[in-house]
Amino acid sequence: MAQFSLPQNSKVGEGQTHKAAPGAKRVKAFKVYRWNPDDGQNPVMDTFEIDLDKCGPMVLDAIIKIKNEIDSSLTFRRSCREGICGSCAMNIDGTNTLACLKPIAEIEGDVRIHPLPHMPVVKDLVPDLSMPYAQLRSIEPWLQAETPPPPDAERLQSREERAELDGLWECILCFCCSTACPSYWWNGDRYLGPAVLLQAYRWIADSRDEATGKRLDALEDPFKLYRCHTIMNCTQTCPKSLNPAQAIGRIRQLMLERLG
Ligand code: SF4
Ligand code: SF4
Ligand code: FES
Repeated sequence: MAQFSLPQNSKVGEGQTHKAAPGAKRVKAFKVYRWNPDDGQNPVMDTFEIDLDKCGPMVLDAIIKIKNEIDSSLTFRRSCREGICGSCAMNIDGTNTLACLKPIAEIEGDVRIHPLPHMPVVKDLVPDLSMPYAQLRSIEPWLQAETPPPPDAERLQSREERAELDGLWECILCFCCSTACPSYWWNGDRYLGPAVLLQAYRWIADSRDEATGKRLDALEDPFKLYRCHTIMNCTQTCPKSLNPAQAIGRIRQLMLERLG
């Protein structure tokens, strides 16, 4: 039977409120998604009031401050804190982005923080990325060539060949794009999603790689590639300003060209 409301155990309740210290002048409320797989409770939104005069400028600074000073059980991923590792991807103020690159000053009102959407949650702000990582493995993201490299040199590229990789090599695999893609939400078990397809194109476009035909063959499938409906959420949300929708379009173009 069709079900038109959320199951009881997925409803998000109100959690605890942690007030700012008396005397704090620039107070901002951070509403943070909390879910613990071990306590059998529904998820809640906890509120943490932070004195911005005692906090760094980025959302990640506030999250680290919360963990260090208010609630050490808050669980999230982070590593580089400068937009390189992709670990701190989460949904902030309704948009998938990197907490370490998101200035608090850009957000009006309360800061609402959820894990990346439509993924299973491990705990709090940590999504289970097993599926996209398995999909990444499936596209064999490494250079494949039968021709041996020159004995005394690297495999060289012209400047033009190297330029073909610009806009691709910068991807940090944060999965902000895939988890913003409606096609990936509904068919994430079979559609590879924009992050993995951008990676697939990164190797297809590499002049040193000799497995292009095999790579295209592997994507010739009604779901893996062709579930992209050019809705463009992926490109709009990418915190590195990349264009996965364009990379997907180029793979489709190559598919067409080899038919002709
Ligand atoms: S353009 Fe394609 S990959 Fe990007 S969000 Fe839309 S459907 Fe998803
Ligand atoms: S294309 Fe952008 S949003 Fe997608 S995984 Fe790469 S860096 Fe992240
Ligand atoms: S902590 Fe590495 S990208 Fe944010």
